[in-house]
Amino acid sequence: MRSILRAEALSRVFGSGAGEVHALNGVDLAVASGELLVVRGPSGSGKTTLLNLLGGLDRPTSGSVWLGEAEVTAMREREVLATRQRRIGYVFQSFGLVPVLSAAENVEVPLRLRRVAPAERAERVRAALEAVGLGEHAEQRPYELSGGQQQRVGIARALVAEPEVLIADEPTGQLDSATAAVVMDLIRDVVHARGVAAVVSTHDPILMERADRVVELHDGRLAAGG
Ligand SMILES: Nc1ncnc2c1ncn2[C@@H]1O[C@H](COP(=O)(O)OP(=O)(O)OP(=O)(O)O)[C@@H](O)[C@H]1O
Ligand SMILES: [Mg+2]
Repeated sequence: MRSILRAEALSRVFGSGAGEVHALNGVDLAVASGELLVVRGPSGSGKTTLLNLLGGLDRPTSGSVWLGEAEVTAMREREVLATRQRRIGYVFQSFGLVPVLSAAENVEVPLRLRRVAPAERAERVRAALEAVGLGEHAEQRPYELSGGQQQRVGIARALVAEPEVLIADEPTGQLDSATAAVVMDLIRDVVHARGVAAVVSTHDPILMERADRVVELHDGRLAAGG
């Protein structure tokens, strides 16, 4: 299968001199459309660093990230921003919802950024919330929703603009294990149904069972493929 997201010899050094931290060391990785890749590894092994680089949220010290034919690491910042808005969806451990906005308004944000017309926005928001089982909760604010529901809003927001890539750094880190399993099932289902290339980091063995492939980071190096 053709890989939509590729990393080549990706390295990231933080700080300098005696305080230098080699967070990532020469990581090669390829993710296909419709594939759910889970990145595991102990705390400090470089998972967040890797996901931030893959998602265009940070720049590597050396190496490259490719999204299809486009080298993200060669782009100017404005182009990276446009690429993130058009082609990548993000799910965050702490959900990242705007507290004063309803579920529907949170999901609508990426469509506003992309200047989608209001009528189409409303329809796509409705469908996205429906797809995560929250059709009845569109008008509620985040504090009126459970953690699992908030993360389902986060998933709807990440996918409403139909990105090619989904980046999720410990998306279930704040959820109990039963809720985490439901959320991970949802991620797997939408990734497969929509052909999104997904990279998800987790500590949780239950979530790894949902993966199409698991890779392991140790001290910033890729240890094994599953
Ligand atoms: N902005 C930064 N400045 C300095 N060091 C950093 C920075 N970000 C990460 N690091 C260091 O890089 C290494 C990898 O961190 P990273 O956050 O990627 O690990 P992680 O696998 O996501 O850990 P966790 O499971 O705890 O989230 C760690 O040693 C960390 O302290
Ligand atoms: Mg992390």
